[in-house]
Amino acid sequence: MPDLSSKDPDWWRQAVVYQVYPRSFADADGDGLGDLRGITERLGHLAALGVDALWLSPFYPSELADGGYDVADYRDVDPRLGTLDDFDALAAEAHRLGLKVIVDLVPNHTSHRHPWFREALAAAPGSRARDRYVFRDGRGPDGQFPPTDWQSVFGGSAWRQVPDGQWYLHLFTPEQPDLNWNDDEVRADFRTTLRFWSDRGVDGFRVDVAHALTKDLTDPLRDLGAPELSSEKALLTLPPGTHPFFDRDEVHAIYRDWRTIFDAYTPPRMAVAEAWVPGVRRALYARPDELGQAFNFEYLQAGWDAIELRAVITESLETARIAGASATWVLSNHDVIRHASRLSLPPGTDENAWLLGNGHEPAVDRAAGLRRARAAALLMLALPGSSYVYQGEELGLPEVADLPPEALQDPVWEQTGRTRKGRDGCRVPLPWTAEGPSFGFGTGGSWLPQPPWFAGYAVAAQDGAEGSTLELYRAALKLRRKLLQGESLTWVPDAPDGVVHFTRSDGWRCIANLSDTDVQLPPGEVLLSSAPLTDGRVGPDTTVWLG
Ligand code: GLC
Repeated sequence: MPDLSSKDPDWWRQAVVYQVYPRSFADADGDGLGDLRGITERLGHLAALGVDALWLSPFYPSELADGGYDVADYRDVDPRLGTLDDFDALAAEAHRLGLKVIVDLVPNHTSHRHPWFREALAAAPGSRARDRYVFRDGRGPDGQFPPTDWQSVFGGSAWRQVPDGQWYLHLFTPEQPDLNWNDDEVRADFRTTLRFWSDRGVDGFRVDVAHALTKDLTDPLRDLGAPELSSEKALLTLPPGTHPFFDRDEVHAIYRDWRTIFDAYTPPRMAVAEAWVPGVRRALYARPDELGQAFNFEYLQAGWDAIELRAVITESLETARIAGASATWVLSNHDVIRHASRLSLPPGTDENAWLLGNGHEPAVDRAAGLRRARAAALLMLALPGSSYVYQGEELGLPEVADLPPEALQDPVWEQTGRTRKGRDGCRVPLPWTAEGPSFGFGTGGSWLPQPPWFAGYAVAAQDGAEGSTLELYRAALKLRRKLLQGESLTWVPDAPDGVVHFTRSDGWRCIANLSDTDVQLPPGEVLLSSAPLTDGRVGPDTTVWLG
């Protein structure tokens, strides 16, 4: 069993990390928006669940143009969410409970309300202040056209014009101007931020859009030639390292620099890259002299299909091994449709169309979705490496697909001319109790409406209830701590069609039946099962751990 005590430099390699989306976790002051005190009050839930760490999505001062990923001050707390003292209290309580704390770092862009951007707007074209961002003259006779054809990830041009005629780059919303990482002051300031939080006892960092920081800013900037090339999907076809703003080779020097800061602490601070890049390239971010880990989104994007999952698992373990990293597994986060819904959509479903149709076309069977989500969770938690669990998945919470247009807050909705519904459906505040004005989220309301059926998923409704998803996660995490050994698995040969079957060291065995027929239960003591077993058979959409 790995030593998860506070001084172990490798504590993160096989940790289970729980993602807290602060606005939606718990609201202590009753204003309808989650806050840090709310999180501190509910840390007992995480300790009882048995996770090793929590990752906090941004809680920094922000106008919430992109859910807090538009940061106006990297070294403070948004007053609506609390104070630095509240943060210290949270971290202290987490550590007392044996939980590590990971914070979210957003280095690609600031908020347009950041003092640097205000200064840049007030300054003249060509000034130092503008050079911390990416300002350029436009094209066309009066510079009235954007400098390039680059598109924002959220839709529309990635450039916005300012009153004096220049344009600035924003790969996300216009309220998120991209920083210029060629600028020494930008680099120095982020070093300060890393030390600021590390000195406060933070154990690690999740690095937002880690693959976008460095851009090819050689003038004249070059066009991509087609709108779809502005998407990360282009990385699958373009020669590696040639995209003008994603996954450029220069970005790695930044992470090697950061590593010297992480390693100055005991234990060294860990980091995990959010990098939507193909597997082999992703491994580069996870090298031990860089961030150490990178999210594996191929696993999240894989269908509910044994052949596909097996291939993804094999490849992920291999790329992590080559990099000297540990593998990571993610089923849900604040950017994607919750897997209790996603896994029950027929293969090939257009997820955005499904959301636009309020989750009715096709209609999904919640019970069937939950069954798959439970099987998927036990499979994930048996894999070598670390798992990232998104708040609410331990409750089996489905996506809220039918949020009405007037409730939507995700900038994606407006920025795409109301053609992409966005990510609010997975960000609806958690139900803690079956009653109350916001199901125990707080004493007031909730910034996104919670549906009545949330009551059945509440923590209080599942706590101690035999067979509940919460109890399944608790049992799995407890067992996992006991069973964890090395970082490898062995595939069991000749698994029946539709079955994923492997062993870990010490005889721990996991069999997941993704087919629609029963399969024979292998010999061994049943330790845990995602669904009841009958007559020595493993039913469809069921995962079993055996000893
Ligand atoms: C990351 C975050 C996402 C955010 C984007 C821009 O992908 O996970 O929520 O919108 O970065 O910061």
